[in-house]
Amino acid sequence: MAAALNLNCKPYKFQFPHSKSASSRGPKFAGIRCLATASPFKSYTITLLPGDGIGPEVVSIAKNALLRVSSIEGFELKFKEMPMGGAALDLTGVPLPEDTLSAAKDSDAVLLGAIGGYKWDNNEKHLKPETGLLQLREGLKVFANLRPATVLPQLVDASTLKKEVAEGVDLMVVRELTGGIYFGKPRGLSTNEFGEECGFNTEVYAAHEIDRIARVAFETARRRRGKLCSVDKANVLEASMLWRRRVEKLASEYPDVELSHMYVDNAAMQLVRNPKQFDTIVTNNIFGDILSDEASMITGSIGMLPSASLGESGPGLFEPIHGSAPDIAGQDKANPLATVLSAGMLLKYGLGEEKAAQRLDSAVLDTLNRGFRTGDIYSAGLVRYFLISFL
Ligand SMILES: NC(=O)c1ccc[n+]([C@@H]2O[C@H](COP(=O)([O-])OP(=O)(O)OC[C@H]3O[C@@H](n4cnc5c(N)ncnc54)[C@H](O)[C@@H]3O)[C@@H](O)[C@H]2O)c1
Repeated sequence: MAAALNLNCKPYKFQFPHSKSASSRGPKFAGIRCLATASPFKSYTITLLPGDGIGPEVVSIAKNALLRVSSIEGFELKFKEMPMGGAALDLTGVPLPEDTLSAAKDSDAVLLGAIGGYKWDNNEKHLKPETGLLQLREGLKVFANLRPATVLPQLVDASTLKKEVAEGVDLMVVRELTGGIYFGKPRGLSTNEFGEECGFNTEVYAAHEIDRIARVAFETARRRRGKLCSVDKANVLEASMLWRRRVEKLASEYPDVELSHMYVDNAAMQLVRNPKQFDTIVTNNIFGDILSDEASMITGSIGMLPSASLGESGPGLFEPIHGSAPDIAGQDKANPLATVLSAGMLLKYGLGEEKAAQRLDSAVLDTLNRGFRTGDIYSAGLVRYFLISFL
């Protein structure tokens, strides 16, 4: 059965991700520049990084959707496809070739599928596909990762939580992406004073790193329902104590946003107990990594969740939150909607093409309303479709 993404349908009132005032966004967002809004020619260059596993399958769907929506809305998109991850390792011997990074830097926005797979699992760290992804985020200086988790009414039964708990959940996790323990030094493997092997990492944040992610979070909350919850471990970690102090200091600049704080262990519990209490969550790199995956499961499938990673200037990086799903790669089973919705975030946050973004989001909802489902979100009585015939 073929599913068609109908890009001519009228935008629904429901917006994905939730936004209070879509048209109020200017070219600047918390100091983050929507690069392409400055272009007078309405022609944008998009770097496509299909990557590994299901990456190429879902990126080709999103590319077609972007092409269709741009032609309807009257702007041009030029695509440049580059190798990344395992595909780049096989081709060039490194997970992020220089040419790929410079193409990404030179473009208006970057759309990534996913990277990784069994074949490269035992590679040395610098030759792992995942290392290429960290290098890409670092190279593009994208420090703010926005991950919406919205339970769509059409998919409420796909959630692992009870219907009354999952229904109406609409939250955004703003995760710091380029600092903290994933990058902090010193780090390494060593031997302690007893001659025993040990591994160590450093959780470190400078004040300016906290301030800039907090600003993005306050502005995100302001455009949503005006509630921001900062998640930390300030009862134990010094880096979290500074985090809390800086976030509190900035709060006076955003009197319209209601700020609260929560320890990460409690936040993990509250996300499954009563996720509706959250609007916008801001947290550090490692807590954000874990909590946003947890939040994703409330929505039913990891195959539905987009993300945007933004920096102070330069192109943003847009990608589904799922991995390369090697267990289903090449079997026409992957859900492409997380990548299509990431393309929607690319239009909205990366190019400032708000109307086109709404059109794409509406088309996704329309497809679900007509009962089309991939296996991961399928329930009895609906129509299964094959990915390749999606567009
Ligand atoms: N950003 C990235 O590129 C990224 C993120 C996470 C993991 N990875 C890599 O991906 C590989 C697999 O990792 P994993 O299995 O832990 O996570 P995964 O997200 O690839 O898969 C987890 C489960 O979800 C399913 N799934 C994922 N995306 C789906 C989709 N679009 N439609 C339907 N089902 C989907 C998979 O079949 C699997 O059962 C690893 O090499 C890992 O390092 C990459």
